[in-house]
Amino acid sequence: MANAVALYTLLLAAVVLTCHCDDESKLQVVYMGDRPQDDASTHHSMLQSVLGSASSAKDSLVHSYGKSFNGFAAKLSEEEAAAIAEMEGVISVFPNRKLNLHTTRSWDFMGFSRGVLEQGQEGNIIVGLIDTGAWPEHPSFNDTGYGPPPPKWKGTCQTKNFTCNNKLIGARYYNSDDDYDDGDIPSPRDTIGHGTHTASTAAGNELAGTSFLGLAEGVARGGVPNARIAVYKVCWAGGFCGDADILKAFDDAIADGVDVLSVSLGYTGISDYFEDSIAIGSFHAMRNGILTSC
Ligand SMILES: *[C@@H]1O[C@H](CO)[C@@H](O)[C@H](O)[C@H]1NC(C)=O
Ligand SMILES: *[C@@H]1O[C@H](CO)[C@@H](O)[C@H](O)[C@H]1NC(C)=O
Repeated sequence: MANAVALYTLLLAAVVLTCHCDDESKLQVVYMGDRPQDDASTHHSMLQSVLGSASSAKDSLVHSYGKSFNGFAAKLSEEEAAAIAEMEGVISVFPNRKLNLHTTRSWDFMGFSRGVLEQGQEGNIIVGLIDTGAWPEHPSFNDTGYGPPPPKWKGTCQTKNFTCNNKLIGARYYNSDDDYDDGDIPSPRDTIGHGTHTASTAAGNELAGTSFLGLAEGVARGGVPNARIAVYKVCWAGGFCGDADILKAFDDAIADGVDVLSVSLGYTGISDYFEDSIAIGSFHAMRNGILTSC
């Protein structure tokens, strides 16, 4: 029994000893604010007062910031970092985290690289766009290789100066104020390009050799390039989109059988949810299992 207690005490001591080793030094940033008043020697003496010796302070210090703002980076244990955080002039102490590159290749970045979904799966997805309509002759909406729309599709194509196909399967337009600008066409046809852009970004075909005036040439494509598209034109050349029309578009799109709604428009201010056509429309879309991205 006495032996067991002695062994237990020994193990406990060993655990206490190893605990110290678990607390390895990690690179920490010590931020000290705006003024580049302090130099490396101040940072060094701060470290020395916590670490106990000049040589361990020298080993610990990785960067001194002092040209444009004040602070330093040093290898510290949790306790040492906490002690530094208490020192005068220290604003924050935080670990050296690893950041990621951001990108202009958004679909790849989000994991929607080319061919992630099978063509058959994708072909059954219907993406609805509440926007300025679309330019139906645009090659992003060419239906070569597409079969008929999936049977769940219950929408329609208002063919006033507009032709649907097996890619661009639905089109409606709304202008309850009868308020047309010069250049507007009373049709789902997009006269300003916004809806053609958002529709092709969400679900347009892959188009090789696309560029911006010769710059950044490559393949332009939607996130789901084989999906079907239905456009609901509620915005007009004057740049306005009315609540009453937006709600009618949601009401139709949900009943038509879209799987996803993309809505790239909004108020300039903040409105109450119960007086906000996008909040009301997207709430009911989500209740019907339709992912709505605004
Ligand atoms: C659609 O694409 C096919 C294949 O590239 C092409 O032959 C056809 O002319 C295109 N249709 C339209 C309407 O541009
Ligand atoms: C449809 O609109 C386009 C663009 O304004 C125009 O060129 C074309 O003639 C119109 N087609 C019809 C049938 O109205």
